[in-house]
Order: sequence, then structure tokens, then C-alpha cells
Amino acid sequence: KMNAAITAVGGYVPQTILDNATLEKMVDTSDEWIITRTGIKERRILEPGKATSDMAAFAIQNLLENSGVDPEEIEVLILATSTPDTILSPTAPLACVKAGLKNAWGFDLNAACSGFLYALSVAASLVESGRHKKVLLVGADKMSAIVNYEDRNTCVLFGDGAGAVLLEPAQDGTGVLDTVYKSDGSGIQFLSVPAGGSAEGTGQQTLDEKRHYVQQDGRTVFKNAINGMTTASNELLQKLSLTTETIDWVVPHQANLRIIDSVGQNLGIPKQKIKVNIERYGNTTAATLPLCLWDFHNDFKPGDKILLTAFGAGFTWGSTCVVW
Ligand code: ACO
Repeated sequence: KMNAAITAVGGYVPQTILDNATLEKMVDTSDEWIITRTGIKERRILEPGKATSDMAAFAIQNLLENSGVDPEEIEVLILATSTPDTILSPTAPLACVKAGLKNAWGFDLNAACSGFLYALSVAASLVESGRHKKVLLVGADKMSAIVNYEDRNTCVLFGDGAGAVLLEPAQDGTGVLDTVYKSDGSGIQFLSVPAGGSAEGTGQQTLDEKRHYVQQDGRTVFKNAINGMTTASNELLQKLSLTTETIDWVVPHQANLRIIDSVGQNLGIPKQKIKVNIERYGNTTAATLPLCLWDFHNDFKPGDKILLTAFGAGFTWGSTCVVW
């Protein structure tokens, strides 16, 4: 069987660091509260004038440098993001221009924090079908564009960043194995940016009420995230006839360290196998999974089984298994 293997990784995080001490001066919070409740110490913020397309292009350029792949060989770019540069047009074509992908067609895929996970399946299908040989997948989000830095319930959680992976055909058993994905649109009431889209549009009232920013019921999202990632992962392991002992690494969405710890405990997977970089980057939405793959790829050996799992707005969630 033809699989789609991850053959290269890249990443980009902005230089500017927003640490907990600085947030203490912006809202009524404390370094101690943020660390014990979320595990986050600092996050990155993109400089003014730059957008998601710039971070995506930087991550792509990093991947191309790491791998020596010619940008003109890339056939497709799928950009998972909830923070496109503009509502119309899509951001992927612009990221292609900025990264010099002269021969690629591209499109955006929005599934919030599950965006990279969902898009991994779409990208893999393009390779498995034999239709394309070099497909780039980027998860990138400029969360600082949609976070209210006067709201302590959300502003401590998010950061900006981008990660990229290259998918190519493989017949040696490596690559994307199988997936269990779910969505439940009734979750919109617990986590969304209500205004600025076709439902509410933009008006003085929506601006005054700050409905262009992320709004969430943190506790409900927290519980659903633990439950969703646990059940999807168990269902996937069963589908693949795998046990947790045969999983070498877990790469979970980085939203809250307590969520990650609970999912690990529920699955019975020891902490040493679970990749975590939330303390440095916070929740970068569609970028958390590829940023983890980029950060930790030197730990992965050929043949290692990696369980990827995510949960996000929608609600959207799921798990997939990749052989490195
Ligand atoms: N600093 C200090 N106090 C705070 C802060 C803060 N930054 N934020 C909230 N609090 C207060 C609350 O107001 C509350 O006070 P109250 O009891 O007087 O009302 C108290 O702390 C406890 O609030 P809880 O909501 O119970 O705190 P909890 O332990 O649940 O942590 C958190 C809150 C961190 C938001 C948690 O619920 C969480 O991480 N939820 C998931 C959020 C998430 O992952 N969202 C993104 C999903 S992914 C996507 O698609 C974008």
C-alpha cells in the first residue's frame, strides 16, 4: 500500500516573547496562577505589520533549508489556520508567493486547533491516491490578532507560530496510518470568535462588545478536550489493533498542560513518551502539532509510532497515528 510519509519538518516562532511577568502588568493575573493552571511560561507574539502568511512562509523556508528540497518541486500547499490574513481571499496562495513555491496550488483549511490534524488526512490522501508527490502542510496561527489582551480568561493562553511538514509517497510502512476524527457543531456556543463572519458581520455594536475576539467557557472546553482526545485515541488504537505500549510517542495539542496530563493518564501512557513545549509557546492553535514535530524530530527514530491528537473550536477533535 502507498502511504504518505512525513519526510521533512520546519518551523517558525516570532522573536518577541510575552512572558507571564509582562501579563501580570496587563491583566489581574499572576505567574504562579498561569503556571499551575496551564503550564505556560511564555508565548511568542508576531511583530506589527506581519501576518499568518509571513509565518507560514518562514516555516516553509525553514523546511526547505533543512531538507534541501527545491521550492519549485512543491505541488500543493495546504494551510491549516483560523487566522487567515483576510476573510477573502485565502492565505495559502499568498504564502506560496512569499515562500517561492512557483508551481504549487494552495488552499486554507479551518478546523481551529484540529486544523493540522484534519489537514494531515487531506494531504495524505492526495499522496496516497498517486495524484501528487510533494505536498506541503502548514499549521499557522496569529492568535494575537484575535485575542483580547484585557481578558485574563483567554489572553494568557495563546501565542503565535507556524510549523510545516512535507508529505511524500512511501512504501516501506512509514507514513500516516489511520485516523479517527469527530466534530460537533453545537460546541460553537462554548468557544468562538462570534463576530466578523457571515453570522454577525462587523458593526459598532459588535466592536463595542468585543465580539471580534476569542470568547470561551474554559471549564466546558477543558472537560470536552480531555474526553475527546481520550476517546478518539482509544478508538484509533482499537481500529489499528495497537496497544498503548506499542506507541513510542504522543504529540498532543498544546492547550493546557493539565489537559495533556489527564489524557496521558487516561490512556495509561508514561509522561516520558508525551511531547510538551507549551511552556515556551502557549496554545498556537493549528501550529501546536507541527511545532512539536519540529521541536522534537531529533528524538524520533525511523519506524517509531507517533500518536497525534487534538481538540479545538467547533468542536473538532481526533487522533491519527504516524509511523516516522
Ligand atoms: N489569572 C488569574 N485568575 C484567573 C485567570 C487568570 N489568567 N483566568 C481565570 N481566572 C479565574 C477565574 O475568573 C475564576 O475565578 P472565580 O472562581 O472567581 O470565577 C478562577 O480563576 C478559576 O477559573 P476556572 O475557569 O475554574 O479555572 P480553570 O482551572 O478551569 O482554568 C482555564 C481556566 C485555564 C481557561 C482552563 O479552563 C482551560 O485551559 N480550558 C481550556 C481552554 C482551551 O484550551 N481553549 C482553547 C481550546 S483550543 C482552540 O480551538 C482555540
